[in-house]
Amino acid sequence: MRRQLHLNLFIQSRGHHEASWRHPAASELPLTDIRYYIDLAQRAEGAALDSIFLADQLAVADDVGQAGRTWLEPLTALSAIATATSRIGLIGTASTTYTEPFNLARQFASLDHISGGRAAWNIVTTWAVGAARNYGGTGSLSHADRYQRADELMDVVKGLWDSWAEDAVLDDRESGRYARPERIRAIGHAGEHYAVAGPMNLPRTPQGRPVLVQAGSSDTGRAFAARHAEAIFTAHMEKATAQAFYKDLKARVVAAGRPADGTLILPGLSPMIGGTEQEALRRQRELEELTDPEVGRKRLSGRFGGHDFSHLPLDKPLAPEDFPDPGSVEAARSRTEVIVGLVRRDRPTLRQLLAYLAGARGHFVFAGTPEQVADLIESWHRDGAADGFNLMPPVLPWMLEVFLTEVLPILRRRGLFRTTYEGTTLREHYGLAKPASRWS
Ligand SMILES: Cc1cc2nc3c(=O)[nH]c(=O)nc-3n(C[C@H](O)[C@H](O)[C@H](O)COP(=O)(O)O)c2cc1C
Repeated sequence: MRRQLHLNLFIQSRGHHEASWRHPAASELPLTDIRYYIDLAQRAEGAALDSIFLADQLAVADDVGQAGRTWLEPLTALSAIATATSRIGLIGTASTTYTEPFNLARQFASLDHISGGRAAWNIVTTWAVGAARNYGGTGSLSHADRYQRADELMDVVKGLWDSWAEDAVLDDRESGRYARPERIRAIGHAGEHYAVAGPMNLPRTPQGRPVLVQAGSSDTGRAFAARHAEAIFTAHMEKATAQAFYKDLKARVVAAGRPADGTLILPGLSPMIGGTEQEALRRQRELEELTDPEVGRKRLSGRFGGHDFSHLPLDKPLAPEDFPDPGSVEAARSRTEVIVGLVRRDRPTLRQLLAYLAGARGHFVFAGTPEQVADLIESWHRDGAADGFNLMPPVLPWMLEVFLTEVLPILRRRGLFRTTYEGTTLREHYGLAKPASRWS
């Protein structure tokens, strides 16, 4: 059998294009209506996709006036989705900087129990500067501090997940013994940032531990991913950088003492599909006509930690000097590297750059026929750029449906993607081992 692709559906707004929420083919439902998310999850599950993913920001964005993105709290939404689905993996975002480890351990363990072993946590340190104002208002932590805290937090969360042995629960009505206290132990963590006694107040979960996902691609982010992540989301605008990232990450995972295939690398892909290439390009142009460059300018500023780009003319070619050095950015550092790299290579005008970023915020955007999209997916997968993809349809549910009905059958004919689920847990879909229990 050929090495299988892994496909995750990233659900955000009414699609990933900045103007998707206004598009006539986008869902009619309000963005706060759980039926919208359930419908998408069920479509993805009907096609045996590995998982769905909900991102999260902990503050309202500056462009809220013209950008349809509201954030149902991911774990609450995924708990509802869990009860309306039975197989698909459920990846929720939660912040290490603004959440206590005991809360995180319980919430994701609960979702793993509720979903019967389908939970995953997208571990973020939260780059958005506005979030700090909602959590005590003491200002954002630096990039390095956020990751350092996150590392300690991961020790605590994993310790809590492991604090119950698999056989700790007896639930024996006859004898009156519910659990075996000798098979439940405290963790006694006392570190620089956290003091957590444990144990957790919940038995070990169906997957042993929920799957760990991570999406930081800076040097510090990669080191963190190599230690913890079992799936990695990443943004690339060209195949060559995706290949370099893949090679580097797999080497780091091995150096961290983990097997290379214990971490799946899933770059973002936003395909606009048409019956002909011309039709796909026309569809893309129509979406671009709905965008407002001033929304893009605000978003760009957010990525660079609030840097002011208001003086830059829209139609003059950009130079790397128009941007702060990514190494000095405390916000979304690796995405700023992607953006400055593109400017260095292609010298777009600000208008052109913003139009590209409007597509999927710096992820790979492609317009073509189903055959061309399948070729692209196959080539990245074959040539060491991806273990699968984080699918980011530009308009939902429209382009998801086109992908599922037009592109997936081609991938299946090529033996690259399953027709039905073989397992029931996300670990099984991803081909990941169940973590060994720390109990003998
Ligand atoms: C596909 C994808 C999804 C992400 N989702 C979130 C999110 O929901 N919330 C968040 O705060 N950051 C999110 N991020 C940002 C990363 O977690 C990370 O903070 C960012 O890439 C900057 O970290 P770095 O400098 O180590 O790359 C996402 C990144 C990617 C590629």
